[in-house]
Amino acid sequence: MIIMDHKTLRKKFLDFFEKRGHKVVPSSSLIPTDPSVLFTTAGMQQFKPYYTGDADAMKDFGSLNVASIQRCLRTSDIDEVGDESHLTFFEMLGNFSFGGYGKKEAIEYAYEFIKELGLKIDYVSVFGGGEGIPADEESEKIWQAVNPLLEIKKTGRDDNFWGPTGDEGPCGPTTEIFINGVEIWNIVFNQYFQEKDKTLRPIKLGIDTGMGFERLLATVRGVKNIFETDLFLPIIELLPGDLSEKNKRIIADHLKAATFLLAEGVKPSNKGSEYVLRRLIRKVVVFEHLNVNLFSKTESAISKVMEIYSGIYPELNNTEIISEFKGERDKFNKTSIQGIKEAEKITKEDLEDPIKLGNIVFHIHESFGLPPDATTEILRNRGFDNFIVEDFKNTIAARRAEHQEISRAGAEKKFGGHGLILDTDELKAGNEEELAKVTRLHTATHLLLAALREVFGQEIEQRGSDITPERLRFDFNFPRKLSFEELKRAEDIVDSAIAADMTVSFEEMDLEDAKKSGARFLPGEKYPEKVKVYFIGALSKELCGGPHVSKTSEIGTFIITKEEAVSAGIRRIRAIVK
Ligand code: SER
Repeated sequence: MIIMDHKTLRKKFLDFFEKRGHKVVPSSSLIPTDPSVLFTTAGMQQFKPYYTGDADAMKDFGSLNVASIQRCLRTSDIDEVGDESHLTFFEMLGNFSFGGYGKKEAIEYAYEFIKELGLKIDYVSVFGGGEGIPADEESEKIWQAVNPLLEIKKTGRDDNFWGPTGDEGPCGPTTEIFINGVEIWNIVFNQYFQEKDKTLRPIKLGIDTGMGFERLLATVRGVKNIFETDLFLPIIELLPGDLSEKNKRIIADHLKAATFLLAEGVKPSNKGSEYVLRRLIRKVVVFEHLNVNLFSKTESAISKVMEIYSGIYPELNNTEIISEFKGERDKFNKTSIQGIKEAEKITKEDLEDPIKLGNIVFHIHESFGLPPDATTEILRNRGFDNFIVEDFKNTIAARRAEHQEISRAGAEKKFGGHGLILDTDELKAGNEEELAKVTRLHTATHLLLAALREVFGQEIEQRGSDITPERLRFDFNFPRKLSFEELKRAEDIVDSAIAADMTVSFEEMDLEDAKKSGARFLPGEKYPEKVKVYFIGALSKELCGGPHVSKTSEIGTFIITKEEAVSAGIRRIRAIVK
């Protein structure tokens, strides 16, 4: 028997639908344009406007029917990766129609394609109705006509209704095909549009089908699991033999997902999709610490990912993938090595007390940037795997909430919970004297950002600022501890600006003009249409509400008192003025 490789199966699928009047459309990016979702999680996502009539498929594709193989990323199952069927990165085969055909053709095509592959359907499922939505009797009848011997199961909204992706969009009842007990093909009948408030409004029927490529390939090749296919075996075979099967799968999956994200220019950071990338890489780096032989293999594993998908995704011809991976690994190793040591010190007794364990794991994350799932991995590697993850996760969540509560309560206690004469998020003062002090510290904060940018370059941005009458506290992006000399240079720049007695002034501008002027602003922050831009000579230009001193000499002497990590990649400086 000829074993089908992944490239042949891809071609078979696309050819099948091309012959039946579908235009083959390339996969869209993993990062969708819809801001309410982090990643592309389904093939239909790039086609959302065609279902609603907001875009014209005939005009864009020359056909009302399209087919694609879409790269997808889902984080919902990230903790399950390592078993036989879960992945973060996967591909989805799909055929779609925006008014070209209906339920009958969609079901018949699927049945025919499965038959062409020589597979046998266990059973199918259809929507049995529920929550005010009528049962899909039409699909049931179509299946009965296609094959009267087929078992048809009926289920409710939880199992046989799909979508939308994001806040709103097309959705509808489904019919699903099961082979060897596994769901292989999900055929969605987009008959509704779900609004942001969750109400459903009927739309013209559209077809959206999705078939997990890894699962299908494993089924066609007759192997037990998705990792035994040519999409994974070449990566897994590269990994050190003494790693457990489960860990090899996690590493292969995470490296593949990271490679695809890096290929699209995503950079690891602490926000959104960038944070997911960071977590994926860091988990692999933790494994490198746990298995010395892995370190020399990860780069070849990344190259192997590129080789497997060569000719399919041109994005992978990106020479920066490996250097970006190494950069993030270095960053992590610099900040988190201590965290790994701390995780290795956790005792058997700690493990028996979920609250204590949660506190330790929380502390390791806060202080050394080692994410909880990495600590969990270290514990598993030490042979501890019967602790209750849920319990300690709850403790971590509670500690996080408490932490935020303490900072709020701290401010309230200090100021008696009321009577603040100034309370922006950033600055707080209870009386005139404190107001004068926080104003001086505030201008000093602008000078500090300007100084750090002089010392380290224009990549430095503010990531947080908190000013009390005692001190300023300033967070910014930087990958490692600052040396004494570097701190001294920054301090000197601020002090010379004070000595130069520069004028502090502001101009009111339209937000867009202010941003265009190159003034510093906080990405993601909501600003009004009209903003103030504060200037300190030519040294500093920032969008800011004030208040500030009018001459820098009013600040006094500026002294940095402390430098520390807030989390990986973010440093914090505390300073006072005298
Ligand atoms: N949108 C459906 C899914 O993701 C079918 O493509 O399963």
